[in-house]
Amino acid sequence: MTEQVLDTRKRPLRDLRISVTDRCNFRCQYCMPAEIFGPDFEFLPQHKLLSFEEITRLTEIFTSLGVGKIRITGGEPLMRKDLPALIRMIRQVEGVSDIAMTTNGSLLSRHAKALKEAGLDRVTVSLDSLDEERFGRMNGRGYRVTDVLSGIEAAVEAGLSVKINMVVQRGVNDQDILPMARFFREQKHTLRFIEFMDVGNSNGWKLDQVVPSSEIVRMIHEEMPLEAIDPNYYGEVASRYRYVGTEQEIGLISSVTQAFCSTCTRARLSAEGKLYNCLFASTGSDLRAPLREGQSDAEIRELIRKIWEQRDDRYSEIRLNDTPGLAGRAKVEMSHIGG
Ligand code: GTP
Ligand code: 5AD
Ligand code: SF4
Ligand code: SF4
Repeated sequence: MTEQVLDTRKRPLRDLRISVTDRCNFRCQYCMPAEIFGPDFEFLPQHKLLSFEEITRLTEIFTSLGVGKIRITGGEPLMRKDLPALIRMIRQVEGVSDIAMTTNGSLLSRHAKALKEAGLDRVTVSLDSLDEERFGRMNGRGYRVTDVLSGIEAAVEAGLSVKINMVVQRGVNDQDILPMARFFREQKHTLRFIEFMDVGNSNGWKLDQVVPSSEIVRMIHEEMPLEAIDPNYYGEVASRYRYVGTEQEIGLISSVTQAFCSTCTRARLSAEGKLYNCLFASTGSDLRAPLREGQSDAEIRELIRKIWEQRDDRYSEIRLNDTPGLAGRAKVEMSHIGG
């Protein structure tokens, strides 16, 4: 039985974003700065991670509460061993209509085929620059653009739908906006520009490093005329634009300048089994203990329902009017819930 559960702002629960590991082979400054996530950093030990069986059981419970879309995130999800086995298990769950994965693409060439065969529908590959030197610096580990591009190619060959995400930071990679737009227009992949966000407490976010989406649209439009198009579905995060006279599109994710909390239907599950109502939440609700203490599906379902029904989060909307007021607030790190 599926029912629709609404939060205090009448937003239905529709998407579940599942982080499968807090580890990543990259050290992007805006997410896992190397100074903080260094050799001594303690990642979650294996026994604290939800097992594939536990994740699948929770997915079943979530679908009975209205979830249809699943996104696998990390850290870097491909750091988790045997990920296709999990995809296969989630694919069997009744009510799951779409399985996507967010990845940095560096390990994708190796895994794309198996992921597709297991039932993955889509990948979203993060790529912030086409310039080898800048990209190597931004990912903190000298990974190469060409590796990510090979990963994207492998995904296409395997039959996965592909989107590209670029986080834009003024003074860091704003000079890459046009080259990225030109390249992915040519490649016929949807590129989405993400405003740099103040996720977590370690990425040194400053408002003046945010390049507003309106500026990005203006810049691209001057060279390659754009027209706005309607969202694909209720609550779509990206605003869509099409290159005039083509079917090719881009997306703008404007969490800072045009908050989209009023239609936010996303719940986030961390690798250790905590449920977060918002990307910027301070705390999550533990679902691992009830799972391991033998609570029934019905009991866990009621627990999740209550959490969603009490949900009032709208961090980006509040930030819009009070950035300094939120400065000291404790927030979950991006590597725990994967964006
Ligand atoms: P589609 O299903 O392809 O539309 O994916 P999506 O755009 O919902 O998900 P994706 O993971 O590609 O989102 C892109 C980026 O947007 C994420 O990495 C985050 O940085 C940001 N984002 C996604 N959801 C939210 C959200 O609920 N709040 C905020 N503030 N940012 C979000
Ligand atoms: N601001 C905006 N986007 C971010 N991401 C990670 N950290 C940030 C941030 N501070 C994006 C990554 C990737 C996804 C996991 O979230 O680029 O696309
Ligand atoms: Fe890894 Fe993605 Fe975070 Fe970069 S943004 S450190 S690739 S999880
Ligand atoms: Fe949803 Fe929180 Fe993002 Fe607003 S800030 S859209 S409530 S995750």
